[in-house]
Amino acid sequence: MSSYTTGELCRGKGAVVNEMKITLPSLSRNEGIARAMVAVFCAQADPSTTELADIKCAVSEAVTNCIVHAYRDTIGTIGLKVQILEGRWIRIEIKDSGCGIEDVRRAREPLYTTDAAGERSGMGFTVMESFCDGVHVKAAQGRGCTVTLCKRLRDRNFRT
Ligand SMILES: Nc1ncnc2c1ncn2[C@@H]1O[C@H](COP(=O)(O)OP(=O)(O)OP(=O)(O)O)[C@@H](O)[C@H]1O
Ligand SMILES: [Mg+2]
Repeated sequence: MSSYTTGELCRGKGAVVNEMKITLPSLSRNEGIARAMVAVFCAQADPSTTELADIKCAVSEAVTNCIVHAYRDTIGTIGLKVQILEGRWIRIEIKDSGCGIEDVRRAREPLYTTDAAGERSGMGFTVMESFCDGVHVKAAQGRGCTVTLCKRLRDRNFRT
């Protein structure tokens, strides 16, 4: 098992105010559906358009990784859990039971990719980290991968 954390996670930030759990098969069309469903759920927390775009982009990268890497040419299940916490924190967990990652620290390095076809740029984890306040990744070879994205929405009254 390997894991890494960057930035600030939601642990201990406050009680869960609302929660959504969904599972989807790893069909490529479900990337857009997952992204849209997360956005609709998060909209109740009154994010700015930029914050909502950031969340959608980060979720899109994590879900795409489940589709293209975790299950490759097979179809498996993607689990999504979205929580709104007190203090305007959003916590999103994206979980698969696919091939897993041996070394998540190496996988998160910018430009690192195992894609041999040259279609991937190895920037997915970098994008997730730049659009969120905290990212936690836990994986084990052959035992799937769980990505947790944490984002703090700015106070409505102090937004620029
Ligand atoms: N859910 C996952 N299951 C298995 N391996 C994964 C998973 N997510 C990421 N990886 C591995 O980590 C590597 C880096 O992921 P990252 O998203 O940063 O880049 P990429 O998917 O290769 O390219 P890009 O996201 O830019 O299209 C992947 O190439 C893959 O080997
Ligand atoms: Mg990727």
